[in-house]
Amino acid sequence: MKFAQRVEQLPPYLFAAISRLIEEKKSQGVDVISLGIGDPDLPTPNHILESLNKYSFVPENHRYPESEGLPEFREAVARWYSNRHNVILDPSTEIVSLIGSKEGIAHLPLCFIDPGDISLITDPGYPVYEIATMFAGGSSIRVPLEEKNGWMPDLKTIDKDVIKKSKILWLNYPNNPTGAVATKAFFEEAIEWAHSNDILIAHDLAYADVTFDDYVAPSILEINGAKDVAIEFNSLSKTFNMTGWRIAMAVGNADVIDALTRVKSNMDSGVPQAIQQMAITAMDDPRDSITVHNKIYQIRRDKVLKVLRDLGLQVETPKASLYVWAKLPEGESNSGDYAAQLVEETGVVVTPGSSYGISGEGYIRISLTISDERLDEALSRLSEFASRK
Ligand SMILES: Cc1ncc(COP(=O)(O)O)c(C=O)c1O
Repeated sequence: MKFAQRVEQLPPYLFAAISRLIEEKKSQGVDVISLGIGDPDLPTPNHILESLNKYSFVPENHRYPESEGLPEFREAVARWYSNRHNVILDPSTEIVSLIGSKEGIAHLPLCFIDPGDISLITDPGYPVYEIATMFAGGSSIRVPLEEKNGWMPDLKTIDKDVIKKSKILWLNYPNNPTGAVATKAFFEEAIEWAHSNDILIAHDLAYADVTFDDYVAPSILEINGAKDVAIEFNSLSKTFNMTGWRIAMAVGNADVIDALTRVKSNMDSGVPQAIQQMAITAMDDPRDSITVHNKIYQIRRDKVLKVLRDLGLQVETPKASLYVWAKLPEGESNSGDYAAQLVEETGVVVTPGSSYGISGEGYIRISLTISDERLDEALSRLSEFASRK
């Protein structure tokens, strides 16, 4: 059997060495605690689950859905964007439902990228942008994110020849893995840049509503002229603790939404309708559950910050996302080695920054999606490790 090049080209699983170490530790009876995964531990709120239960009994919902999503779902997304971002969207042309934003992100390059074309991706970053570009036959150029620039790309430094071949610039704020947030001024600059270079901006707003200290994350569509050159991926996964239900949306430029819908409709048959109904309930309800969840994450964030600082790691206080991004202590430079050392000495797993790209080297990512009890146990082990050093 000979596999296609796109499979042969898939990068090795960067977490592999640590995974082996985790298995080894578990087989030795060590109680391993993972702070590596960004998947909310808190359940989907009851009223949303009750809505799924109710709509699962509707016979209409037992049939194939449409790829673009129920009109009611798209109208609810339009209401959400209007109330939350003051952005007006046409439900019939500017919104499509997705089976999680990962699905839309993975399909978008099929609409834009031909062999030889380039995606501009920010590094460190969510790996799907690059892999989906490779699947479409294109290649990715990494635009570094650096702490000194607040983890924002410097668009002025991108090579002119690269720009000529580029079709998409991927952005993601609040950012995974750095937790950085974008200013509206940055989005304005990016939209102007996209207009002058005729490049689509695909903004990933998956962490829009996981925010702390009264911070409110903007949508890129709040910028004048954004709809000419941008689409945005938004998701119910992190906002409503709904990662398991797989529902999200792409919104923005009508031609892009049309192309994405056409590609998608040849690949999938949309999101189960009862889940779309459940999502309507989630989006139409008051923001109480979001506020409650964010308070829990914020308390966890503050506990993590304290212990990391005791360990000698330099860390900014993130305003959003499910992650704390920390610079390795003086004398340590390899994030994989440092993460392996933590597993070895404490049984606590963190993600090496290098897993997200070369510019992530020298950092680790800690996720806040673990129960308070397990987090406290992990932090007490890390504190003890710090006191031994
Ligand atoms: C930056 C980013 N974008 C998109 C996703 C995908 O989220 P979903 O497919 O659950 O909407 C994730 C998931 O962790 C993510 O971190």
